[in-house]
Amino acid sequence: MAQRETFGSRAAVIMAMAGSAIGLGNIWRFPYTVGEGGGAAFIIVYLISSLLLAMPIFLAESIIGRTAQAGTFNAMDKLAPGSKWKWLGLLTVISPLIIVSFYSVVGGWSFEYLLKALTLSFGPESTDSIAPMFGNFASSTWGPVLCHTFFITATCLIVLAGVKKGIEKFAKLTMPVLLVLIVVIMIYAVSLPGAGEGVRYLLKPDFSKITGRVIASAMGQSFFSLSLGVGTILIYASYMKKEENLFTSGLGTAAFDLIFAMIAGFAVMPAVFAAGIEPGAGPGLIFETMPYIFAKMGAAAPWLSATIAILFFLTILVAALTSSISMVEAGVAYLTEEKGLTRRKAISILLPSTWALGVLCSLSFGPLSEVHILGCTIFDFCDKLTSNYLMAFGGLLFTFFVGWKMKKETVWNEFTCNGSQKFNCALFSLVYFLIKWVAPIGIVIIFITNLVL
Ligand code: PHE
Repeated sequence: MAQRETFGSRAAVIMAMAGSAIGLGNIWRFPYTVGEGGGAAFIIVYLISSLLLAMPIFLAESIIGRTAQAGTFNAMDKLAPGSKWKWLGLLTVISPLIIVSFYSVVGGWSFEYLLKALTLSFGPESTDSIAPMFGNFASSTWGPVLCHTFFITATCLIVLAGVKKGIEKFAKLTMPVLLVLIVVIMIYAVSLPGAGEGVRYLLKPDFSKITGRVIASAMGQSFFSLSLGVGTILIYASYMKKEENLFTSGLGTAAFDLIFAMIAGFAVMPAVFAAGIEPGAGPGLIFETMPYIFAKMGAAAPWLSATIAILFFLTILVAALTSSISMVEAGVAYLTEEKGLTRRKAISILLPSTWALGVLCSLSFGPLSEVHILGCTIFDFCDKLTSNYLMAFGGLLFTFFVGWKMKKETVWNEFTCNGSQKFNCALFSLVYFLIKWVAPIGIVIIFITNLVL
């Protein structure tokens, strides 16, 4: 059998995992779910969920992936031979493919906004037309579909190039640039007149805003942001070398991801208030506020603002791509390892199917806006179904598997790289407790309250 590819170095592992984790979830989804969830109180629930639920799932997936050195189907088959656990693999194929479909629509929007930035569409005179600009674009038929087509095709082509060459290079290059840019934008956004209200919105919690729905949404966001419960982290961990420290890689990725989301929040929310936009405006939020910042900035420094705008949408596009390739990789791993197809064949199946679902999601902002599934538009349905239900369900099963099916000793061996590295015993007990008890029970409680309410 051919040897499995592995990532070249520790930095490459963290960068590639962070590349999957950091994406539209942080920059696009986090600010608008914070806006829908009422601000600071939502953030507190989000932080608690990240620590007590998301982190354990992240580690559980990494443990399974690296122990088995295989994608979810094979991993489950190796670790629990002949059991029904294998079927968890199906979830880890279906969920990412649904996610990539609507994700690609937003990736397409970013592409369109990059083109707008390149043609200097966010000049100082455009401040009033920026919010309607997004609505007009997203609700039209051909433009967004074309951009989605571009995005999903680019994603599939990168995946075709293979794990090491395609993904590693891409992730390493762009993440630091994006971080620097968002920090610059954040600093400027906070200085805008009226921005103080936005900062207060993010820092002063109003606990009366916390409802069952808000908790479920914060949990969903923490899972979405770290790419959990859908097997992408599992796959990346399976490419990790045995002597790589799993815990620090996981912690590093999660910390990176959290910092990105918070900075994005502090860049977007002050601008939302400065521009007089409703924080709960939904998926269009960053596309309505970021160009507003650029337009304002343009009054004082036109070239600087144009450059930042171009770089911003370019790096978002790349961040979105590094995430979307990890989703398509899940489908490819299944079709090649489980069904014996070549990568090329696998892509030729995945591309048209995700494209078609993406088209429906895209049209749900325009011609199909009246089509509802359980009260949601097609786009919202795919989004909520995956982040609030499928990812949580997958996460529940992963933590359950590690906590209850795998031997504690195997988990310990993964943490200590088979005894070759030191690991604090008390910390291990705590992490193990979170994986075995806290995460599964927490998810079930949130599930049930959400369903009952
Ligand atoms: N975590 C990614 C983001 O924040 C989204 C994602 C979800 C990626 C699931 C892979 C799998 O944008």
